[in-house]
Amino acid sequence: MEKKLQNQVAIITGASSGIGAGVAKSLASAGATVIINHPVAATKEPADAVLADIIKDGGKGITYQCDVSKENEVIEMFADVVKQFGTVDILINNAGLQRDSPFDKMTLEQWNFVLGVNLTGQFLCAREAIREFLRRGVDETKSKAAGKIICMSSVHEVIPWAGHANYAASKGGIMLMMKSISQEFAWKKIRINSICPGAIQTPINRQAWETPQALNELLTLIPYKRIGQPEDIGNVAVWLASDDSDYVNGISLFVDGGMTLYPGFTTNG
Ligand code: BGC
Repeated sequence: MEKKLQNQVAIITGASSGIGAGVAKSLASAGATVIINHPVAATKEPADAVLADIIKDGGKGITYQCDVSKENEVIEMFADVVKQFGTVDILINNAGLQRDSPFDKMTLEQWNFVLGVNLTGQFLCAREAIREFLRRGVDETKSKAAGKIICMSSVHEVIPWAGHANYAASKGGIMLMMKSISQEFAWKKIRINSICPGAIQTPINRQAWETPQALNELLTLIPYKRIGQPEDIGNVAVWLASDDSDYVNGISLFVDGGMTLYPGFTTNG
């Protein structure tokens, strides 16, 4: 891959598995030094495995434990990375999880846990990234922008999702946080956008693809008739983080095989 992100430092939250791991690999092959964030001691091993793959392919990076829903941990992670690598150029605001429940049975804990990681976590990391971008300003040797943030949203920032109200609410929240801060800081040459993945084959949605019946049912929701792979998101993340997308601000880029095209209307309506 062309080294479009050479000499840039990228923090990828929630990068020990799934989409985050895929994005970390794509960014590293584009030349970025990647900080593979993972939440707790138990996720260190999978994060180390992601790093080992990256190093084997000639990439650079470290792993870093930090729970993105905790303000003090996020502040410390950004300070440590700046101390060790000089700055942060790219934030992939990716950490996210599901705690599904029928709404009338949903506990406050399930609600708060999902909102805490998916939305508050993105707020805390974006705030620290923006503080660092404002401090450093543009360094033309690396990029035309002072910094780039990519928020991992979902098709569920627009598709309502019964049984997943906490998750859908967190993604809808990401959309307007992202657009508001993109508007607020564009004049400072900070570019902020979202990627909205559809069904990507990762542990978060295992039950939707692990049996042939489940996969067939899932494919009725995907006009392009294949489940997505983390690399599909990684390729788009590299583009959004590079100067190739320098005039792109505040968009929600759907990478979903057409899931948001109302597939039920293909043969109906
Ligand atoms: C969810 C997955 C789901 C996909 C499409 C994602 O945001 O995390 O579980 O398969 O949306 O519905």
